Amino acid sequence: MAILVTGGAGFIGSNFVLEWLGCGSEPVVVLDKLTYAGNLENLAAIRGDERFTFAHGDIADQARVAGLLREHAIRAVVNFAAESHVDRSIHGPAEFIQTNVVGTLQLLEAVRAFWGGLPAGPKEAFRFLHVSTDEVYGSLGADDPAFTEEHLYQPNSPYSASKAASDHLVRAYHHTYGLPVLTTNCSNNYGPYHFPEKLVPLMILNALGGKALPVYGDGRNVRDWLYVTDHCSAIRRVLEAGQLGRTYNIGGRNEKTNLEVVQTLCSILDAVSPRAGGGSYWEQVQFVKDRPGHDRRYAIDASRMENELGWLPSETFETGIRKTVEWYLANPEWVLGVTSGAYRDWVDKQYGS
Ligand code: NAD
Ligand code: TYD
Repeated sequence: MAILVTGGAGFIGSNFVLEWLGCGSEPVVVLDKLTYAGNLENLAAIRGDERFTFAHGDIADQARVAGLLREHAIRAVVNFAAESHVDRSIHGPAEFIQTNVVGTLQLLEAVRAFWGGLPAGPKEAFRFLHVSTDEVYGSLGADDPAFTEEHLYQPNSPYSASKAASDHLVRAYHHTYGLPVLTTNCSNNYGPYHFPEKLVPLMILNALGGKALPVYGDGRNVRDWLYVTDHCSAIRRVLEAGQLGRTYNIGGRNEKTNLEVVQTLCSILDAVSPRAGGGSYWEQVQFVKDRPGHDRRYAIDASRMENELGWLPSETFETGIRKTVEWYLANPEWVLGVTSGAYRDWVDKQYGS
């Protein structure tokens, strides 16, 4: 028996796989298309581990998924595979619909066929866990209560709309076919192996590289931040004890404006890696044109995770963000590997003007 982790070479998926093998013995199969965001270097620490199998492929390839499910006697699927960056979804939504919607549908179809043919015991124990985002709920006003699992879906970007569609498909597969599904909706993650197109790693690397720190709009958009390994522990807990068909909001109760995040990063960097010419990294901040349709505030009410499943995060924002900065400083080779030609093309496209 093994678990299948789709998108396991990306940011959160790779952290999940490394932790999975670090805290248990059950084998893991990773299926990943290795898009620009997928990187086998994220999994270098388990290369050669006999409990780990890597399969290069697309979640939309039903025959491929069916083969893996059969050959490895998969007992659970954890679906991280997605196009995940809002700004890219604004430049080109089609890829988001292809992977996040069509891909999830094809994956569900392959899983449904496999699960339907299992004997009673393994059939009952089987799980399909779909990893989703708080962005499906839309945007909150400054004084609105945090998102609960009952909040209406009101996605505002092509990314969040595609994730919302995938969540609905997963829900429908439970209600219509009885597929044993679980869905998690998590807030913004940060930590090791985060591709530097997202706020936290982009700011760290631009600061160290002497480049501008591009803050969208007035910088007062609010996100809830969760250290990535806390997201992974929450997913393990839901997989182990979540109620079938239920959704679980995961968050760190760490609401910060983007300016607060950038200020924190600059002050840690000022202390641990001072600028060669003196002064603070904060001097590199530049306010740039806002993201179209930019959601103002996300906040997660994680009471269900806390009360029903007894889950709590281990890191505070202060401890997690310091660990993150230290990881980027300690891993210049990983950074060099991902900031390749394709990455520079993206930076030119997004920030060039
Ligand atoms: P990521 O972009 O770093 O990684 C995505 C991975 O999926 C990559 O390895 C990529 O190669 C792979 N992939 C893409 N298309 C594929 C396909 N068609 N078939 C197989 N593999 C494919 O994303 P991430 O930040 O690790 O996010 C993982 C999941 O968690 C996503 O579903 C995302 O919506 C969700 N999520 C992310 C955050 C966050 O803050 N990053 C927060 C909440 C939820
Ligand atoms: P991001 O990391 O893209 O996550 P998401 O949009 O999924 O929440 O962005 C986090 C916040 O940071 C968001 O409000 C947009 C903002 N942001 C900037 O101000 N500058 C940047 O260069 C980036 C990438 C994001």
